[in-house]
Formats: sequence, structure tokens, C-alpha cells
Amino acid sequence: MNRLPAEPRDQAAAWSAIAADYEREFVDPYRADAINPLLDRLRALPDHAQAAVADLGCGKGPLLPLLAQKFAVVHAVDFAEEMLRHARQRCVGLGNVRFHHASLTDLGFLHGQLDLAVAVNSLVMPDVRDIETALIQIRRCLKPGGTLLGIVPAMDGVHYWTMLLVDRALRRGMPLEAAQKNAAHLAEHQYFDFAFSRFRFRGIEQHFWHPFEIPYRLRRAGFRDVRVDKVLLSWEHFRWREEFVGQEPPWDWFFAGRVE
Ligand SMILES: C[S@@+](CC[C@H](N)C(=O)[O-])C[C@H]1O[C@@H](n2cnc3c(N)ncnc32)[C@H](O)[C@@H]1O
Repeated sequence: MNRLPAEPRDQAAAWSAIAADYEREFVDPYRADAINPLLDRLRALPDHAQAAVADLGCGKGPLLPLLAQKFAVVHAVDFAEEMLRHARQRCVGLGNVRFHHASLTDLGFLHGQLDLAVAVNSLVMPDVRDIETALIQIRRCLKPGGTLLGIVPAMDGVHYWTMLLVDRALRRGMPLEAAQKNAAHLAEHQYFDFAFSRFRFRGIEQHFWHPFEIPYRLRRAGFRDVRVDKVLLSWEHFRWREEFVGQEPPWDWFFAGRVE
């Protein structure tokens, strides 16, 4: 039986429906040419620590093999069954990964058990109250001194990409109005609600984050020592990259927060 309430249930179904096309439709923060502080932090850990980690919203499990190498126990959590099916396939032979079909808003089964929690582009619930609930749940899962490492999609990263595209169109001699229309089309503004930082695509509704929101929401949920840094994405995901040589690529936001 599926015990998720109606909106999360719709979202779980929408995420399941996109699983097969995931790599084609979503920007990949793990590419070798991305600059990803979360990966750097994980790779710097010693192998086979006697510690427990959870990958919260693990998707198809790109991080699970690395986590399985670094930690004694890995909990892989996602509410989309199809994502979990792919993740299980990826982890055949990894005996220390446990899979959980669950929502991040209801993590009672992990309370008090984790040394580290990781959430990569999964704290994106369209209702910000669910994000707050999920953060409180994650805090309760962590042991004292435990850490949450996360990545969230950046709303300001989309504004930055739009700025570059407007300037590109102006350089090509377009009038301002046409340049803005061109940038809006190329940066797929039709899927965004900029006022409330939402992205709607193929039935999935995602909250995008502003940098000021990260310390605000983490502190409200009880995290301390909150740090924020850019994940510089690969230019390979963006069109006309050859015209932006020397410019910083668009980004996601990395953050870390600690539980006392
Ligand atoms: C953008 S994907 C990222 C997947 C993976 N972390 C990665 O880096 O490839 C977001 C994932 O979070 C999951 N997710 C979103 N909201 C969730 C929720 N409330 N509870 C559990 N999983 C959730 C989705 O099903 C999806 O697999």
C-alpha cells in the first residue's frame, strides 16, 4: 500500500516516470569537469569507516558505490519506486547498501542512526513546508556531531545563464526585446515560476533555491555551522559554450550543516 499523501504521491509517480530518461533530462553535477565540493568531501573520507550514511533521494544511485566504499552501512532512500529499481541494479554485489521506499518527510525508521546524510537535488519539494519537515527529519536522523551534505538547484544560476544569453543576443545585434525573448526561450523560462522559485517539467515540480535561503532554512531546522559553496556545472550541458569561454559556468548550490 502506498501511504504517501496525494501531492507527494503524484510527485513520486512523476519522478518514477522520468527515471528512464533521467540522464538525458537533468544536469549532472558528478561529471569529471564539474567542480563539486560534495564529491571532494566524500572522496577525502577514509575507506570503510565504521559509520552509517544515508543517500536521501538517491535516485538511480550514482553516489551509492562511493558511499558503500567509504561507510559501513549505506541507507538509500527514495519515494520513486522506479528510481530505486535502477539504484538496486547499480548496487548488485554491494552488500552494505539497504534500500528504503520512503518519503524524506517521514524518516522515523532512521532517527538517531546516521553519522552523515547526503541529499543531492532531492530537497526540492514544491511545498516549502515539506522541505522544512524533511530538514527536521534529517536532523533527527543524525547523531550528535553528525553532518548533512547537500546540493540544491540554484535559482540564481538560472538568472545568471539568462544574463549571458541576453548579452549574447545583443552582441549579435538583436534589439533588447528580441534578445530577452531569445534568452527566455533558450533558458526554458516556460517551465519556471520565478516569483516562487518553482520549476515544472513533465509533471515534476521542483523548488529551486536562492543562496540566502540555505542558511535560513537549515538554521530553522536546527543545523549549525552552515556552509554554502558553488557546484560549478560542466559547460557541456549548455549550448553555445564556445561563446562563453572565460566565463564561470552556471551552478548548483552545495551546503553543509552540523547537528550539535
Ligand atoms: C533530481 S533527482 C536526484 C537523484 C540523485 N540524488 C542524484 O543525484 O542523481 C531527485 C530525487 O529525489 C527523489 N525525491 C524527491 N522528493 C522526494 C521525497 N519527498 N522523498 C523521497 N525522495 C524524493 C526523487 O524521486 C528523485 O529520485
